[in-house]
Amino acid sequence: MSSLLIHNIGMLVTPEGTEARRGADQGTLRVLENAWVYTENGEIISYGDRNMPITMGEKLDAGGRLVTPGLVDAHTHLIFGGWRQNELAMKLRNVPYLDILAAGGGILSTVKATHAATEDELAAKAGAVLDEMLAFGTTTCEAKSGYGLDKNEELKQLKVIKRLNKEHPLDLVPTFMGAHALPPEFKENREDYLKLLCEVMIPAVAKQKLAKFCDVFCETGVFTAEESRRILECGRQYGLIPKIHADEIDAIGGSQLAGEIGAISAEHLIVCPEEGIQSMAQGGTVACLLPATSFYLNAAYAPARKMIEAGVPVALASDFNPGSCPCLNLQLVMNIACLKYRLTPEEVLTGVTLNAAAAIGMADKVGSIDRMKQADLVIWDAPDLNYLCYRLGSNLAHTVIKKGVKYHG
Ligand code: NIG
Ligand code: FE
Repeated sequence: MSSLLIHNIGMLVTPEGTEARRGADQGTLRVLENAWVYTENGEIISYGDRNMPITMGEKLDAGGRLVTPGLVDAHTHLIFGGWRQNELAMKLRNVPYLDILAAGGGILSTVKATHAATEDELAAKAGAVLDEMLAFGTTTCEAKSGYGLDKNEELKQLKVIKRLNKEHPLDLVPTFMGAHALPPEFKENREDYLKLLCEVMIPAVAKQKLAKFCDVFCETGVFTAEESRRILECGRQYGLIPKIHADEIDAIGGSQLAGEIGAISAEHLIVCPEEGIQSMAQGGTVACLLPATSFYLNAAYAPARKMIEAGVPVALASDFNPGSCPCLNLQLVMNIACLKYRLTPEEVLTGVTLNAAAAIGMADKVGSIDRMKQADLVIWDAPDLNYLCYRLGSNLAHTVIKKGVKYHG
């Protein structure tokens, strides 16, 4: 048996429970001063601010610092070949994101680079990204395919995710996103690509148990709301839980659809209309917001306050990808969420922990410091949560603990 007692915690801050927190509950946290957490075999056994257990096992002095749950990144496009630094000059000339895509660049150029890479190359590259994420305090991460756009190439990406989940300390949760863009060869016959998705790719992914979720980019020039419905309903028949990229650039019905079909989460939601918010509230959909993408695209910011007021649980994620957000730092996401969404540090912490875990179906295992959950914790170089959200641009993660094992300490 391995055990770890973290003591001399100046402040322990965590949301509580195994479900997404909405409304006023999103900003209600448990706060303990002079606290300790005791873990055994990678699980939280107990925590508190008195009656500290006496143990012969490993001890870790937190030095009076802040401790929170490990951060959960609920939305990444982790597996890809190449980068897209060549798009920066176009962005600076104000060429729109969707115009770059329509001209065969953007996602489609990453598709080419991903096809050209071997599984080993993709794994090495994404593994280095995961190392960096862990150093910034991320202990669980969702990862999408979507730069394959044909059966074997999509399976290749998902196999890399499966392999990294075994090889790397981070927990990875896989999402099939073959509906990330329409391959140019299907421009004149989109129906054929929808059939390929529904009749070939989704069944193959399900058969090999390579994904937990199915995601679609519901956007002007990509997939319509009706096409998205068809793909997500098909995925559901094969056991893949629906997620949707909705209202990122244009509101074409994605958020309404998310609530209607009971999607576990809807992502982006930059231009989410009132009806979309209501639909998600009714459908129990988590709004997974990506503030660093708004920053990177120089776009507007999702109406996060309105969502919280309407009872929609808000999660916050990085959207790490080579185009719209080459940033994996959830601490920066937390800063932007405070400053631009006007969320409180308490709401933000729930957004990057418990609500993010709920957005990827992991809220029973991670996302809070609760008994029987995984011992995923971060000791921050910060005295309290306000400080963590207030400092900008530094990595404040002091020690990252994944399943009771210490990293970067
Ligand atoms: O979430 N919006 C679609 N997909 C990604 C961007 C992917 C890319 O540009 O390569 C996103 O922003
Ligand atoms: Fe995305």
